[in-house]
Amino acid sequence: MKKAKGYGYGKVILFGEHFVVYGLPAIASAIGDKTIAEVEKAEKFEFIDKRPETEGYKVTKKDEIERELKMIFDFMKIDLKKTPLRITLSGNLLCTSGIGASAAMATAIARALSDYFELGLNNEEINRIAYEGEKGSAGTPSGIDNTCATFGGLLWFEKNLQGGPNKIELIKAKKPIEIVLGNTGISQDTKKVVKDVRKAKEAEPEKYNRIFDDYLKIVKEARSVIERGDLKRLGKLMDENHKLLKEMNLSCKEAEEIISVAKANGAIGAKITGTGRGGYVILLTPGRKLQEKVAKAIEKEGFRVLKTKIGI
Ligand code: MEV
Repeated sequence: MKKAKGYGYGKVILFGEHFVVYGLPAIASAIGDKTIAEVEKAEKFEFIDKRPETEGYKVTKKDEIERELKMIFDFMKIDLKKTPLRITLSGNLLCTSGIGASAAMATAIARALSDYFELGLNNEEINRIAYEGEKGSAGTPSGIDNTCATFGGLLWFEKNLQGGPNKIELIKAKKPIEIVLGNTGISQDTKKVVKDVRKAKEAEPEKYNRIFDDYLKIVKEARSVIERGDLKRLGKLMDENHKLLKEMNLSCKEAEEIISVAKANGAIGAKITGTGRGGYVILLTPGRKLQEKVAKAIEKEGFRVLKTKIGI
């Protein structure tokens, strides 16, 4: 019996979470960890989720996951009553906020369904389906997560607010850069946090205009800095971006704790990544030695870490 397979990468946003929703550019990178989906024939629809998770993720996200699946099946016009399927999720990507877990799931499932039904979908088509799935989980997502999950690599991303194709450009880093992702252990609802930011922006337009202007300068410089390989400056820009996110009330006590331990141990840049108010913190730690040192120090404080590279 045919067992079809698909995968989707996790991602980190280096610059631009939340700003990207309003059409400002963002820089994001896929990470090596991925979600794998397997699709096979079954008596009735079954969904088996073997992905590793931070405690409570799957329970908290139960409705989101169900909505996401429904959006994918509807968009692909798959009638589960006519063709009952068993979908099994696995892989080494930890399910938690801030790392693109829902987009990785949507991409993996879209690929596995394409394989199962022999649709031969290309990356653009997979990305389109994964975006539909993301709508179930994130409301009006920018599309950056599913784009990273589908294409991999280090990407410059601008959402087309008119609904046309988004701008996606591959950025070439001088060489892969080691990072540590520190896990606050807190799951957040992206939809709610995006909504909160919108409300705050509407309530304080002057403050937010200034923050958005400052951010634009940061992201533009960041691109050239990555291409030049000036990691010290890259770290500074991440710190500046984090300051703006803090002003937007997107950090939290645990994230600040991780950042201060990482900085004390030599991390050259630090910011929250993704939804914020929990999830992951990204720490720039070039070189295996520094990466190891920072990771150990954070673990000692009781946080889980993920060691990976961007710009592969
Ligand atoms: C979530 O990973 C990133 C946000 O900017 C939302 C989005 O881009 O859809 C917070």
